[in-house]
Amino acid sequence: MTGGGAVGSGGTVAFGGDVATYYAAYRRGYPEALLDRVGAALGLSAVDGTVLDLGCGTGQLALPMAHRARAVIGMDPEPAMLRLAAEAGARQGLANVTWVLGADRDVPALGALLDGPRPLAATVIGTALHWMRPAELFPVLRALTRPGGGVAVLSGGAPLWLHGTDWSRALRAFLEDHFGRELRATCGTDDADLARYRREFADAGFASATLLEHAYEDLLTFDRLVGGLWSAFPPDALPAPGDRPAFAARLRAALPPGDRFAEPVRVTALVATVGPAER
Ligand SMILES: C[S@@+](CC[C@H](N)C(=O)[O-])C[C@H]1O[C@@H](n2cnc3c(N)ncnc32)[C@H](O)[C@@H]1O
Repeated sequence: MTGGGAVGSGGTVAFGGDVATYYAAYRRGYPEALLDRVGAALGLSAVDGTVLDLGCGTGQLALPMAHRARAVIGMDPEPAMLRLAAEAGARQGLANVTWVLGADRDVPALGALLDGPRPLAATVIGTALHWMRPAELFPVLRALTRPGGGVAVLSGGAPLWLHGTDWSRALRAFLEDHFGRELRATCGTDDADLARYRREFADAGFASATLLEHAYEDLLTFDRLVGGLWSAFPPDALPAPGDRPAFAARLRAALPPGDRFAEPVRVTALVATVGPAER
């Protein structure tokens, strides 16, 4: 549901256990119309090319990209996320997605495994680049990507607790009290993050970087809000299953009245391409 990474994690990567289950159940995917534009910008077609989804989580991008490429590699360092992604792919009957356990530092080895020069049509990275080291990753991806292809960095919008709405401010206050510290990390979703990624693409030699956007409002039930929130908790901070109803009741009491919470969602895709001069 929420766009960002783990709340209160102090920078530790953690998406295992029940967090992965909440992630699969409550994180929204990306608008099909935006994915069509990303596919067009990267020169993708359903009949050719391999797309890498790095930090694929439970498949929010890998699964829809499977209809826009010949083959997709979903890669993630968290086994629980990868298992749920693979289960979702099997439920959808997808036969062109391969699931690989690995992180950004493993991309050079993946490149060695794939046959031929520039074996990738594209790489997509959804709400995950803030866990990686772009200055090291982007040159590796550029060298693996065919001319006209590229890398798309997608974000599903700001974290739930960082919107400018009354309920989001109340949520942030509740969470800051719960974790005992300020929550400021934008998890790769704001304009300063995008400007930094743009510079890192340019430094890595990508030909151009274009920002595609899709904004809309989502009306969340309280159940979706809590599920989305728990999908962003580090596993060791998630309340024990028996304590979750009391946590939810305290949160409900801390939020403004009403049974719907309007979330302004700004989905972005920064698409960087590999120029034809490298052909
Ligand atoms: C917020 S989730 C995003 C999942 C999905 N791509 C999406 O768009 O919803 C971040 C994912 O990045 C993965 N991740 C964390 N560190 C990573 C790294 N160094 N390299 C690749 N993936 C990483 C996590 O395991 C997690 O599944």
